[in-house]
Amino acid sequence: MKNADDILAAARILESGRLVAFPTETVYGLGGDAENPAAVAAIYALKNRPASHPLIVHVASGSDIAYWSDRIPDEARKLMAAFWPGPLTLILKRASHVLPDVAGGQDSVGLRCPSHPVAQALLGLFKQGRGGVAAPSANRFGHVSPTMAQHVRDEFGDDPRLGAILDGGQSEVGIESTILDLSRIETAGPVLLRPGKIGASQIAEVIGMMPKVPDNGAPRASGTLASHYAPRTPVAVIPSDKLLQLLVRLEENGHRVALLHYSSLPASRKMSLAGEVGLYCAPDVYSHQLYASLRKLDRSGADVILVEATPETETWKGVNDRLKRAAYNGLGTIEQLAGVKETD
Ligand code: TXA
Ligand code: MG
Repeated sequence: MKNADDILAAARILESGRLVAFPTETVYGLGGDAENPAAVAAIYALKNRPASHPLIVHVASGSDIAYWSDRIPDEARKLMAAFWPGPLTLILKRASHVLPDVAGGQDSVGLRCPSHPVAQALLGLFKQGRGGVAAPSANRFGHVSPTMAQHVRDEFGDDPRLGAILDGGQSEVGIESTILDLSRIETAGPVLLRPGKIGASQIAEVIGMMPKVPDNGAPRASGTLASHYAPRTPVAVIPSDKLLQLLVRLEENGHRVALLHYSSLPASRKMSLAGEVGLYCAPDVYSHQLYASLRKLDRSGADVILVEATPETETWKGVNDRLKRAAYNGLGTIEQLAGVKETD
């Protein structure tokens, strides 16, 4: 559902304390009223997410950020002016009245103003544009984020705790927002907690400082766990020149292989695969299709998913980060299946 009546109905569902899945330009979110403890608790319960992992609060364009944070550095204002609405989440010090549960008990709050027109309309109608919708990606904890309404249905079925799913088509960006921590900027500088479409150098151009990589004092972020965004089938990321060899070994050992690649493959090779997706080798096009492709290959009946390694340049950072987490532990398993590594 996505017409004006449906969006208004969804805003009313949120106001009543129930949950709504909605499209954003990055991935679909599982939204609840950020000021309603029961709604926030319901998000954690439905996702099966540990209570210590904070949620992002989504706000309407032009809404008053000072309501959520009483310490807003100039850098935050500049970044909001440059990139909002859009795929950038800012972590700021949390105002004392903001529910600690939203922030997983931390003293900060994650804020994002999404650009997707359906998300914009929903946030504009919800509490007349003055509320905040806490929304993690609309998937079970650790699993691949949804980029289509159907993916949300695949995750939660018709669980009655989900009041509505707004369908806004396929998410344009396809990987989650860039997360920048500004809550400790005076002492630690700006810290990039999760890479995304908006890259570190684009941020540096606006604030005149290059974001750092997380140190030990950085806030916890579940999207930064080693294993995350993962299909159920083991995944390995393999350099282009090693791909065919590994594929042949796996097939010789009787395994069914699914392949995500961008280089061209001999037609005979494609035939033997349990699943195959070829993507264009450009970061924006690739990220747009990445999660839908992983979901498709996960359903293909394959024992393993091989992913052709993507270029290691700055514009691929977001994609490479997600591939690394999807493939956490996968390489060892797959090398064993291929017989190129001894079982220990
Ligand atoms: O693109 C996105 O950001 C999507 C859409 C729905 O907006 N949302 C999303 O939410 O990816 P989620 O919960 O799946 O990932 C949010 C990440 C988590 O890693 C969380 O730990 C981190 O943001 N985060 C949120 N608030 C935080 C805070 N106060 N401090 C540190 N990390 C925070
Ligand atoms: Mg997530």
